[in-house]
Amino acid sequence: MAELTSSHEPTAERADDPLSPFVRPHVRAVPPAVHGALSDGELRRWGRRPEEVLDFSANVNPYGPPPGVEGAWVTADVARYPDPDALRLREALADHHGVRPEHIVVTNGTAELIWLVALAFVRPGDRVLVCAPTYGDYARAVRLMGGSVAECRAREEDGFAHRAAHVEEALRRLNPRLCFICTPNNPTGRIVPANLIWRWADTFPHTLFAVDEAYINFVPGLLPAVDPARPNVLVLRSMTKDYALAGLRVGYGVGHAGLIGGVARVRPSWNVSAVAQAAGLAALAGRAHMELTVREVRRASAALREELGAVGLEVLPSSTHFFLVRVGRARAFRDALARQGIAVRDCTSFGLPAHVRVSARRPEENRRLVEAVRAVLRGRRP
Ligand SMILES: Cc1ncc(COP(=O)(O)O)c(C=O)c1O
Repeated sequence: MAELTSSHEPTAERADDPLSPFVRPHVRAVPPAVHGALSDGELRRWGRRPEEVLDFSANVNPYGPPPGVEGAWVTADVARYPDPDALRLREALADHHGVRPEHIVVTNGTAELIWLVALAFVRPGDRVLVCAPTYGDYARAVRLMGGSVAECRAREEDGFAHRAAHVEEALRRLNPRLCFICTPNNPTGRIVPANLIWRWADTFPHTLFAVDEAYINFVPGLLPAVDPARPNVLVLRSMTKDYALAGLRVGYGVGHAGLIGGVARVRPSWNVSAVAQAAGLAALAGRAHMELTVREVRRASAALREELGAVGLEVLPSSTHFFLVRVGRARAFRDALARQGIAVRDCTSFGLPAHVRVSARRPEENRRLVEAVRAVLRGRRP
Protein backbone atom coordinates (compact mmCIF):
# COMPACT_ATOMS: atom_id res chain seq x y z
CA MET A 1 0.00 0.00 0.00
CA ALA A 2 1.44 3.39 -0.92
CA GLU A 3 1.16 6.28 1.46
CA LEU A 4 2.13 9.90 1.02
CA THR A 5 5.02 10.50 3.36
CA SER A 6 5.62 14.18 2.78
CA SER A 7 3.88 17.15 1.30
CA HIS A 8 5.52 19.52 -1.17
CA GLU A 9 5.02 22.44 1.18
CA PRO A 10 8.40 23.92 2.09
CA THR A 11 9.30 23.66 5.73
CA ALA A 12 8.68 26.91 7.60
CA GLU A 13 11.67 28.77 8.96
CA ARG A 14 12.22 28.06 12.65
CA ALA A 15 14.11 30.13 15.18
CA ASP A 16 16.34 27.14 16.10
CA ASP A 17 17.19 26.27 12.45
CA PRO A 18 20.99 26.46 11.98
CA LEU A 19 20.57 27.23 8.25
CA SER A 20 20.86 30.84 7.09
CA PRO A 21 17.61 32.60 6.10
CA PHE A 22 19.14 32.91 2.60
CA VAL A 23 18.80 29.13 2.17
CA ARG A 24 15.87 28.16 -0.11
CA PRO A 25 12.86 26.84 1.83
CA HIS A 26 12.92 23.51 -0.04
CA VAL A 27 16.48 22.94 1.11
CA ARG A 28 15.19 22.86 4.68
CA ALA A 29 12.97 19.94 3.69
CA VAL A 30 15.99 17.85 2.65
CA PRO A 31 17.17 15.62 5.48
CA PRO A 32 20.93 15.17 5.81
CA ALA A 33 22.37 12.25 3.86
CA VAL A 34 23.02 9.04 5.79
CA HIS A 35 25.50 6.60 4.28
CA GLY A 36 27.51 3.65 5.55
CA ALA A 37 31.23 3.49 6.39
CA LEU A 38 32.83 4.80 9.57
CA SER A 39 33.74 8.47 9.73
CA ASP A 40 37.26 9.52 10.67
CA GLY A 41 35.87 11.11 13.86
CA GLU A 42 34.26 7.87 14.93
CA LEU A 43 37.36 5.84 14.13
CA ARG A 44 39.40 8.16 16.28
CA ARG A 45 36.95 7.50 19.13
CA TRP A 46 37.41 3.73 18.73
CA GLY A 47 41.20 4.21 18.45
CA ARG A 48 41.33 2.82 14.88
CA ARG A 49 43.07 4.01 11.72
CA PRO A 50 40.96 4.10 8.50
CA GLU A 51 43.19 1.51 6.78
CA GLU A 52 42.56 -0.97 9.62
CA VAL A 53 38.80 -1.03 9.03
CA LEU A 54 37.17 -3.94 7.25
CA ASP A 55 34.27 -2.30 5.48
CA PHE A 56 31.20 -4.50 4.94
CA SER A 57 29.00 -1.40 4.84
CA ALA A 58 29.73 -0.24 1.27
CA ASN A 59 28.64 -2.53 -1.56
CA VAL A 60 31.87 -2.12 -3.52
CA ASN A 61 33.70 -4.97 -5.25
CA PRO A 62 36.34 -6.00 -2.65
CA TYR A 63 38.75 -7.16 -5.37
CA GLY A 64 39.31 -3.57 -6.54
CA PRO A 65 39.32 -2.09 -10.05
CA PRO A 66 40.55 -3.95 -13.16
CA PRO A 67 44.37 -3.95 -13.44
CA GLY A 68 44.54 -1.39 -16.29
CA VAL A 69 42.71 1.34 -14.38
CA GLU A 70 45.55 2.68 -12.27
CA GLY A 71 47.86 3.14 -15.28
CA ALA A 72 45.08 4.98 -17.13
CA TRP A 73 44.35 7.60 -14.56
CA VAL A 74 47.95 8.63 -13.96
CA THR A 75 48.31 9.47 -17.66
CA ALA A 76 45.28 11.81 -17.69
CA ASP A 77 46.23 15.44 -18.39
CA VAL A 78 45.01 17.24 -15.28
CA ALA A 79 46.22 20.67 -16.47
CA ARG A 80 43.56 20.71 -19.21
CA TYR A 81 39.79 20.78 -18.86
CA PRO A 82 38.28 17.36 -19.42
CA ASP A 83 36.09 16.74 -22.47
CA PRO A 84 32.83 18.31 -21.26
CA ASP A 85 30.80 15.71 -23.18
CA ALA A 86 32.92 12.68 -22.15
CA LEU A 87 32.59 11.59 -25.78
CA ARG A 88 35.07 8.70 -25.79
CA LEU A 89 33.59 7.18 -22.66
CA ARG A 90 30.06 7.69 -23.98
CA GLU A 91 31.03 5.98 -27.25
CA ALA A 92 32.53 3.04 -25.35
CA LEU A 93 29.45 2.77 -23.11
CA ALA A 94 27.12 3.08 -26.12
CA ASP A 95 29.01 0.28 -27.83
CA HIS A 96 28.75 -1.85 -24.71
CA HIS A 97 24.96 -1.34 -24.46
CA GLY A 98 24.29 -1.53 -28.21
CA VAL A 99 22.89 2.03 -28.29
CA ARG A 100 24.08 5.34 -29.75
CA PRO A 101 26.16 7.94 -27.81
CA GLU A 102 23.14 10.29 -27.66
CA HIS A 103 21.48 7.67 -25.46
CA ILE A 104 24.18 8.05 -22.78
CA VAL A 105 25.04 10.81 -20.31
CA VAL A 106 28.07 10.41 -18.03
CA THR A 107 27.95 11.79 -14.49
CA ASN A 108 30.04 12.19 -11.37
CA GLY A 109 28.74 8.93 -9.94
CA THR A 110 25.10 7.86 -9.91
CA ALA A 111 24.70 10.11 -6.89
CA GLU A 112 25.00 13.15 -9.16
CA LEU A 113 22.70 11.57 -11.76
CA ILE A 114 19.93 11.17 -9.17
CA TRP A 115 20.08 14.91 -8.41
CA LEU A 116 20.12 15.73 -12.13
CA VAL A 117 17.06 13.54 -12.73
CA ALA A 118 15.17 15.49 -10.07
CA LEU A 119 16.46 18.80 -11.44
CA ALA A 120 15.47 17.95 -15.02
CA PHE A 121 12.08 16.31 -14.45
CA VAL A 122 10.50 17.22 -11.08
CA ARG A 123 8.39 20.38 -10.88
CA PRO A 124 7.30 21.89 -7.54
CA GLY A 125 4.22 20.00 -6.39
CA ASP A 126 4.85 16.92 -8.54
CA ARG A 127 4.11 13.56 -6.96
CA VAL A 128 6.97 11.06 -7.07
CA LEU A 129 6.64 7.39 -6.16
CA VAL A 130 9.61 5.66 -4.53
CA CYS A 131 9.66 1.86 -4.26
CA ALA A 132 10.97 1.47 -0.71
CA PRO A 133 12.79 0.70 1.52
CA THR A 134 15.56 2.00 -0.68
CA TYR A 135 18.44 4.40 -1.26
CA GLY A 136 17.64 7.68 0.52
CA ASP A 137 18.92 10.12 -2.11
CA TYR A 138 15.87 9.69 -4.39
CA ALA A 139 13.58 11.26 -1.78
CA ARG A 140 16.14 13.91 -0.84
CA ALA A 141 16.56 15.03 -4.47
CA VAL A 142 12.80 15.13 -5.07
CA ARG A 143 12.19 17.20 -1.94
CA LEU A 144 14.88 19.65 -2.95
CA MET A 145 12.90 20.33 -6.13
CA GLY A 146 9.68 20.79 -4.19
CA GLY A 147 8.18 17.45 -5.22
CA SER A 148 6.21 15.26 -2.79
CA VAL A 149 7.38 11.74 -2.11
CA ALA A 150 5.08 8.75 -1.76
CA GLU A 151 6.50 5.38 -0.81
CA CYS A 152 5.33 1.96 -1.88
CA ARG A 153 7.01 -0.12 0.82
CA ALA A 154 7.78 -3.80 0.35
CA ARG A 155 7.04 -5.89 3.43
CA GLU A 156 9.32 -7.98 5.55
CA GLU A 157 6.88 -10.92 5.41
CA ASP A 158 7.48 -10.93 1.62
CA GLY A 159 11.25 -10.90 2.22
CA PHE A 160 11.05 -7.25 1.07
CA ALA A 161 10.18 -8.34 -2.49
CA HIS A 162 7.73 -5.93 -4.14
CA ARG A 163 4.29 -7.26 -5.01
CA ALA A 164 3.47 -6.11 -8.56
CA ALA A 165 -0.18 -5.47 -7.61
CA HIS A 166 0.84 -3.09 -4.80
CA VAL A 167 3.10 -1.03 -7.04
CA GLU A 168 0.44 -0.94 -9.76
CA GLU A 169 -2.17 0.22 -7.27
CA ALA A 170 0.15 3.02 -6.12
CA LEU A 171 0.88 4.05 -9.72
CA ARG A 172 -2.84 4.11 -10.53
CA ARG A 173 -3.81 6.01 -7.40
CA LEU A 174 -1.02 8.61 -7.49
CA ASN A 175 -0.39 9.00 -11.23
CA PRO A 176 3.14 10.18 -10.33
CA ARG A 177 5.39 12.29 -12.52
CA LEU A 178 8.32 10.05 -11.69
CA CYS A 179 8.81 6.62 -10.14
CA PHE A 180 12.15 5.47 -8.69
CA ILE A 181 12.83 1.74 -8.78
CA CYS A 182 16.16 0.33 -7.61
CA THR A 183 16.96 -3.16 -8.92
CA PRO A 184 18.79 -4.99 -7.42
CA ASN A 185 17.56 -2.85 -4.56
CA ASN A 186 19.69 -1.25 -1.89
CA PRO A 187 19.42 -2.37 0.94
CA THR A 188 17.30 -5.50 0.31
CA GLY A 189 19.06 -7.02 -2.72
CA ARG A 190 15.63 -7.83 -4.22
CA ILE A 191 14.90 -7.52 -7.93
CA VAL A 192 12.11 -6.02 -10.01
CA PRO A 193 12.32 -7.70 -13.45
CA ALA A 194 12.83 -5.46 -16.50
CA ASN A 195 9.78 -6.97 -18.22
CA LEU A 196 7.58 -5.86 -15.34
CA ILE A 197 9.03 -2.34 -15.40
CA TRP A 198 8.41 -2.13 -19.17
CA ARG A 199 4.83 -3.30 -18.64
CA TRP A 200 4.33 -0.52 -16.06
CA ALA A 201 5.96 1.99 -18.42
CA ASP A 202 3.45 1.01 -21.14
CA THR A 203 0.47 1.11 -18.77
CA PHE A 204 1.45 4.43 -17.15
CA PRO A 205 2.83 6.55 -20.01
CA HIS A 206 2.61 9.78 -17.97
CA THR A 207 5.11 8.46 -15.43
CA LEU A 208 8.85 8.52 -16.03
CA PHE A 209 10.47 5.38 -14.59
CA ALA A 210 13.98 6.02 -13.23
CA VAL A 211 15.48 2.56 -12.84
CA ASP A 212 18.62 2.48 -10.70
CA GLU A 213 20.70 -0.51 -11.82
CA ALA A 214 23.82 0.48 -9.85
CA TYR A 215 24.24 -3.17 -8.76
CA ILE A 216 23.07 -5.06 -11.85
CA ASN A 217 26.52 -6.42 -12.75
CA PHE A 218 26.57 -8.26 -9.42
CA VAL A 219 23.73 -10.43 -10.77
CA PRO A 220 25.13 -12.04 -13.93
CA GLY A 221 22.51 -12.70 -16.56
CA LEU A 222 19.90 -10.28 -15.20
CA LEU A 223 18.11 -8.50 -18.06
CA PRO A 224 18.68 -4.71 -17.87
CA ALA A 225 15.73 -2.33 -18.34
CA VAL A 226 17.74 -0.39 -20.95
CA ASP A 227 15.55 0.44 -23.96
CA PRO A 228 16.28 3.78 -25.65
CA ALA A 229 13.11 3.47 -27.74
CA ARG A 230 10.95 3.91 -24.63
CA PRO A 231 10.19 7.57 -23.92
CA ASN A 232 9.57 7.01 -20.20
CA VAL A 233 12.32 4.65 -18.99
CA LEU A 234 15.67 6.06 -17.87
CA VAL A 235 18.26 3.63 -16.53
CA LEU A 236 20.81 4.82 -13.96
CA ARG A 237 24.14 3.00 -13.86
CA SER A 238 27.19 3.19 -11.62
CA MET A 239 30.78 2.13 -12.23
CA THR A 240 31.78 2.76 -8.63
CA LYS A 241 30.63 -0.56 -7.18
CA ASP A 242 31.24 -3.36 -9.73
CA TYR A 243 34.43 -1.73 -11.08
CA ALA A 244 35.42 -0.41 -7.64
CA LEU A 245 35.79 3.24 -8.67
CA ALA A 246 34.00 4.65 -5.60
CA GLY A 247 36.77 7.14 -4.89
CA LEU A 248 36.86 8.27 -8.53
CA ARG A 249 33.10 8.69 -9.15
CA VAL A 250 31.75 7.46 -12.49
CA GLY A 251 28.08 6.90 -13.25
CA TYR A 252 25.90 7.23 -16.33
CA GLY A 253 22.35 7.28 -17.58
CA VAL A 254 21.05 5.26 -20.55
CA GLY A 255 17.76 5.94 -22.27
CA HIS A 256 15.70 7.81 -24.82
CA ALA A 257 17.66 10.69 -26.41
CA GLY A 258 15.00 13.16 -25.25
CA LEU A 259 15.46 12.10 -21.61
CA ILE A 260 19.25 12.04 -21.86
CA GLY A 261 19.14 15.50 -23.46
CA GLY A 262 17.14 16.78 -20.48
CA VAL A 263 19.70 15.48 -17.99
CA ALA A 264 22.62 16.76 -20.09
CA ARG A 265 21.04 20.23 -20.20
CA VAL A 266 21.16 20.60 -16.38
CA ARG A 267 24.52 18.90 -15.86
CA PRO A 268 27.27 21.17 -14.49
CA SER A 269 30.04 21.80 -17.03
CA TRP A 270 33.00 19.38 -16.75
CA ASN A 271 31.13 17.28 -14.20
CA VAL A 272 33.33 14.23 -14.89
CA SER A 273 37.05 14.78 -14.37
CA ALA A 274 39.70 13.75 -16.92
CA VAL A 275 40.94 11.20 -14.39
CA ALA A 276 37.49 9.68 -13.99
CA GLN A 277 36.90 9.56 -17.77
CA ALA A 278 40.23 7.80 -18.32
CA ALA A 279 39.53 5.37 -15.49
CA GLY A 280 36.03 4.66 -16.81
CA LEU A 281 37.40 3.77 -20.24
CA ALA A 282 40.08 1.51 -18.79
CA ALA A 283 37.57 -0.14 -16.46
CA LEU A 284 35.24 -0.99 -19.35
CA ALA A 285 38.19 -2.50 -21.20
CA GLY A 286 38.83 -4.60 -18.09
CA ARG A 287 35.29 -5.94 -17.97
CA ALA A 288 36.48 -9.56 -17.87
CA HIS A 289 38.25 -8.87 -14.54
CA MET A 290 35.06 -7.38 -13.13
CA GLU A 291 33.00 -10.38 -14.23
CA LEU A 292 35.49 -12.83 -12.79
CA THR A 293 35.71 -11.08 -9.42
CA VAL A 294 31.92 -10.67 -9.21
CA ARG A 295 31.60 -14.45 -9.47
CA GLU A 296 34.09 -14.79 -6.59
CA VAL A 297 32.13 -12.30 -4.48
CA ARG A 298 28.87 -14.14 -5.16
CA ARG A 299 30.42 -17.42 -3.99
CA ALA A 300 31.82 -15.69 -0.90
CA SER A 301 28.44 -14.11 -0.23
CA ALA A 302 26.63 -17.47 -0.32
CA ALA A 303 29.14 -18.91 2.20
CA LEU A 304 28.90 -15.86 4.45
CA ARG A 305 25.09 -16.03 4.48
CA GLU A 306 25.28 -19.63 5.64
CA GLU A 307 27.80 -18.88 8.37
CA LEU A 308 25.83 -15.93 9.74
CA GLY A 309 22.72 -18.12 9.73
CA ALA A 310 24.65 -20.84 11.58
CA VAL A 311 25.58 -18.45 14.41
CA GLY A 312 21.88 -17.80 14.92
CA LEU A 313 21.13 -14.63 12.94
CA GLU A 314 18.19 -14.28 10.57
CA VAL A 315 19.58 -13.62 7.07
CA LEU A 316 17.01 -12.30 4.58
CA PRO A 317 16.76 -13.37 0.93
CA SER A 318 18.78 -11.36 -1.61
CA SER A 319 19.75 -11.78 -5.27
CA THR A 320 23.05 -10.00 -4.92
CA HIS A 321 26.24 -9.81 -2.81
CA PHE A 322 24.72 -7.72 0.00
CA PHE A 323 21.83 -8.69 2.22
CA LEU A 324 19.85 -7.69 5.27
CA VAL A 325 20.38 -9.41 8.61
CA ARG A 326 17.88 -9.07 11.43
CA VAL A 327 19.93 -8.38 14.56
CA GLY A 328 17.52 -6.74 17.02
CA ARG A 329 18.99 -3.34 17.79
CA ALA A 330 20.93 -2.43 14.66
CA ARG A 331 22.69 0.63 16.06
CA ALA A 332 24.08 -1.21 19.08
CA PHE A 333 25.12 -4.18 16.92
CA ARG A 334 26.87 -1.91 14.44
CA ASP A 335 28.68 -0.02 17.24
CA ALA A 336 29.83 -3.27 18.84
CA LEU A 337 31.39 -4.36 15.53
CA ALA A 338 32.84 -0.88 14.90
CA ARG A 339 34.80 -1.19 18.15
CA GLN A 340 36.47 -4.23 16.55
CA GLY A 341 37.31 -2.26 13.38
CA ILE A 342 34.47 -3.78 11.34
CA ALA A 343 31.82 -1.71 9.57
CA VAL A 344 28.31 -2.95 8.72
CA ARG A 345 25.44 -0.69 7.66
CA ASP A 346 22.92 0.13 10.38
CA CYS A 347 19.65 0.26 8.39
CA THR A 348 17.78 2.62 10.74
CA SER A 349 17.86 5.36 8.08
CA PHE A 350 16.01 3.00 5.72
CA GLY A 351 13.29 2.66 8.35
CA LEU A 352 14.71 -0.71 9.43
CA PRO A 353 16.08 -0.23 12.96
CA ALA A 354 16.30 -4.00 13.58
CA HIS A 355 18.41 -4.75 10.50
CA VAL A 356 21.95 -4.30 9.33
CA ARG A 357 23.12 -4.64 5.73
CA VAL A 358 26.19 -6.74 5.11
CA SER A 359 28.09 -6.67 1.84
CA ALA A 360 30.26 -9.74 1.28
CA ARG A 361 34.03 -9.33 0.92
CA ARG A 362 36.80 -11.86 0.23
CA PRO A 363 36.46 -15.23 2.00
CA GLU A 364 39.25 -14.59 4.55
CA GLU A 365 37.73 -11.17 5.40
CA ASN A 366 34.28 -12.69 5.75
CA ARG A 367 35.69 -15.17 8.26
CA ARG A 368 36.88 -12.22 10.38
CA LEU A 369 33.38 -10.78 10.30
CA VAL A 370 31.86 -14.06 11.47
CA GLU A 371 34.37 -14.25 14.33
CA ALA A 372 33.55 -10.67 15.36
CA VAL A 373 29.81 -11.38 15.19
CA ARG A 374 30.29 -14.47 17.38
CA ALA A 375 32.10 -12.28 19.93
CA VAL A 376 29.30 -9.71 19.88
CA LEU A 377 26.64 -12.39 20.37
CA ARG A 378 28.63 -13.99 23.22
CA GLY A 379 28.86 -10.53 24.87
CA ARG A 380 25.07 -10.20 24.65
CA ARG A 381 24.36 -13.37 26.66
CA PRO A 382 23.87 -12.96 30.42
C1 LIG B 1 21.25 2.30 -5.19
C2 LIG B 1 22.36 3.26 -5.28
N1 LIG B 1 22.35 4.15 -6.27
C3 LIG B 1 23.33 5.05 -6.39
C4 LIG B 1 24.37 5.11 -5.48
C5 LIG B 1 25.46 6.12 -5.67
O1 LIG B 1 26.42 5.52 -6.47
P1 LIG B 1 27.71 6.29 -7.00
O2 LIG B 1 28.85 5.86 -6.17
O3 LIG B 1 27.82 5.85 -8.44
O4 LIG B 1 27.43 7.75 -6.90
C6 LIG B 1 24.42 4.20 -4.44
C7 LIG B 1 25.53 4.24 -3.46
O5 LIG B 1 25.53 3.60 -2.46
C8 LIG B 1 23.37 3.25 -4.33
O6 LIG B 1 23.36 2.36 -3.35
